[in-house]
Amino acid sequence: MGEHGARVRGDEGGTKSLFKCSEAREPGGTAERGGLSAILITALCSLLILSSPAGLGVRAAEFGHLPDNITVSEGESVILRCKIDNEVTHKAWLNRSNILFTGTDKWTLDPRVSLVNSNDSDFSIQIERVAVADEGPYTCSFQARNQPRTAHVYLIVQVPARIVNISADVTVNEGSNVNLFCLAVGRPEPTVTWKDFKFDLQSEGEFLDITEIKRHQAEDFECITHNGVAAPDSRRVRVTVNYPPTITDVKNMPAQLGKVAILRCEAMAVPTASFEWYRDDRRRVESDSTLQIKNERTRSLLLFNNVTEKHFGNYTCFASNSLGTANASMLLFRPGAVYSRGVGAAVSAGLGVWLCLLLSLLMKI
Ligand SMILES: *[C@@H]1O[C@H](CO)[C@@H](O)[C@H](O)[C@H]1NC(C)=O
Ligand SMILES: *[C@@H]1O[C@H](CO)[C@@H](O)[C@H](O)[C@H]1NC(C)=O
Ligand SMILES: *[C@@H]1O[C@H](CO)[C@@H](O)[C@H](O)[C@H]1NC(C)=O
Ligand SMILES: *[C@@H]1O[C@H](CO)[C@@H](O)[C@H](O)[C@H]1NC(C)=O
Ligand SMILES: *[C@@H]1O[C@H](CO)[C@@H](O)[C@H](O)[C@H]1NC(C)=O
Ligand SMILES: *[C@@H]1O[C@H](CO)[C@@H](O)[C@H](O)[C@H]1NC(C)=O
Ligand SMILES: *[C@@H]1O[C@H](CO)[C@@H](O)[C@H](O)[C@H]1NC(C)=O
Repeated sequence: MGEHGARVRGDEGGTKSLFKCSEAREPGGTAERGGLSAILITALCSLLILSSPAGLGVRAAEFGHLPDNITVSEGESVILRCKIDNEVTHKAWLNRSNILFTGTDKWTLDPRVSLVNSNDSDFSIQIERVAVADEGPYTCSFQARNQPRTAHVYLIVQVPARIVNISADVTVNEGSNVNLFCLAVGRPEPTVTWKDFKFDLQSEGEFLDITEIKRHQAEDFECITHNGVAAPDSRRVRVTVNYPPTITDVKNMPAQLGKVAILRCEAMAVPTASFEWYRDDRRRVESDSTLQIKNERTRSLLLFNNVTEKHFGNYTCFASNSLGTANASMLLFRPGAVYSRGVGAAVSAGLGVWLCLLLSLLMKI
């Protein structure tokens, strides 16, 4: 896991296939200098590396493209390999211009860096628990036949996309503006997408702004971040929209003496409404032996278990929450009875429809 090697080619150049290592001659030109100590060489290499563009390396020299990249996830271990041969007399690994190892001597104090192999054909180091700061060019610098050579490898450290901060669940009143944020980190830079489930809409970017939110827009929004390194990270934010009650579905009900009857009052409201009932004379309706009030989440029921004369009348339902109140009136009436004054919306509407039908029939004849 996480083990990679800087692949290496035989040197077909004029130098008698000395190095199995991929190599690049530094353009500095100070190459030919014999009898340098290992320290001097590495110091020299440091200088060469400092003065040469990091991107110029092995593969570039051989095939005309950039040096090998080794990609590793943060926290993993990685092995940097350098293939050499027995002509090599001095060798060192460098992180940018810092010496990590010269031969088997460890120069860096970083306990995560260790030598995993050093013999005539292979000179490899390991970095454990790779951190983002480790990203960069690493150089295997070696000398054979008094010629300094280098092999470069570029370590890329990836970090899975992760949401680091996101809006808390919010509750707003209808008509307010809602601004959600979702901050994500990762390498490479992750994408951030907001998604809703009700309407299956998507919005790119860390911010989701909803202007003048409507009650039907209340739902869970999901933020998803992804950069291809690991599975996407996602979190949800619940947006609650408060609005005052509106009473739906009001019906006048016919009732038979001695029978059961029900009056219903349905109300849409957030937060949920509380209900109260009043009679025509503004008397508060209370539960008793003949009448039961049943309050549910979105509605209230008046249950008459034995209708008597005194039950007939005009009932008004009040639904209220912190944002307001709504009322609606309905009749419990004896079928066939005639009501003097405007017998409620449903009844008069029914009459109107009937008259219209009659009229249209008459006109067709
Ligand atoms: C190495 O990664 C860099 C970006 O960090 C990219 O530009 C380059 O093409 C990569 N080289 C290879 C050989 O994949
Ligand atoms: C050097 O070490 C590697 C890995 O342990 C091994 O495969 C290789 O044969 C060794 N080479 C020599 C010349 O000992
Ligand atoms: C490499 O160098 C960078 C910058 O100097 C440093 O932060 C990082 O810890 C080094 N990594 C290793 C593995 O030496
Ligand atoms: C998240 O962002 C909010 C608003 O910008 C800020 O107040 C809060 O401190 C942040 N939380 C963390 C854990 O960074
Ligand atoms: C309903 O009430 C009337 C009058 O109070 C009573 O005579 C009758 O027995 C009751 N019916 C039922 C089903 O309880
Ligand atoms: C009942 O609702 C109507 C509007 O539908 C409103 O004009 C009236 O004031 C309300 N009555 C009470 C007592 O709140
Ligand atoms: C029922 O009572 C309400 C409120 O007092 C009133 O507005 C409505 O006109 C009444 N309906 C009938 C049919 O009397």
